[in-house]
Amino acid sequence: MGLREDIDEVLIPEDALQARIRELGAAVSNDYAGKEPLLVGILIGAFVFLSDLQRAITIPCQVDFMATSSYGDATESSGIVRILKDLDQSIEGRHVLIVDDIIDTGLTMDYLLQTLKARYPASLRVCALLDKVPRRRREVRIDYRGFEIPDRFVVGYGLDYAGRYRNVPFVCVLKPEIYR
Ligand code: IMP
Ligand code: MG
Repeated sequence: MGLREDIDEVLIPEDALQARIRELGAAVSNDYAGKEPLLVGILIGAFVFLSDLQRAITIPCQVDFMATSSYGDATESSGIVRILKDLDQSIEGRHVLIVDDIIDTGLTMDYLLQTLKARYPASLRVCALLDKVPRRRREVRIDYRGFEIPDRFVVGYGLDYAGRYRNVPFVCVLKPEIYR
């Protein structure tokens, strides 16, 4: 059985993703010229986006990853996020650009920004492919944003449902019977 049979609607097709990522890459290349930014991808969801974004960047840059996990409903209100994998290097004095797949409530990014800010980077900015504005519970400044999307659960292009669909090359919504 192919994954495509589970898809209800394509929200952002592959060519639109790639075109927007080229624009984001150009903006980053322009803004960080001479600064060699460190792109920090948030695993697992951001790995596909980061992979394409860094190839759209034409200046020297470096890549590192962090993995986070929220404690679940009980702690969502407090915004406490667990770091499952930390950066391999110090970011003191570095120009750090956090790259994530989607900003939903904003709790994860708010926590990451506080955590990384305390490590004295030279600058700290956020690049998110998707922005689910209606769900926001923490104000997060997104410096580079791919697309604003409505309040729907999306998969594909790195985003998963129960670990699946990350390899679908576009952003889509699944058939209702899949979410059970
Ligand atoms: P936040 O802390 O609520 O902003 O959650 C951000 C994280 O939740 C994202 O990095 C995703 O991993 C996950 N997430 C939020 N919305 C979706 C979605 O629609 N599909 C898949 N994952 C999502
Ligand atoms: Mg994530």
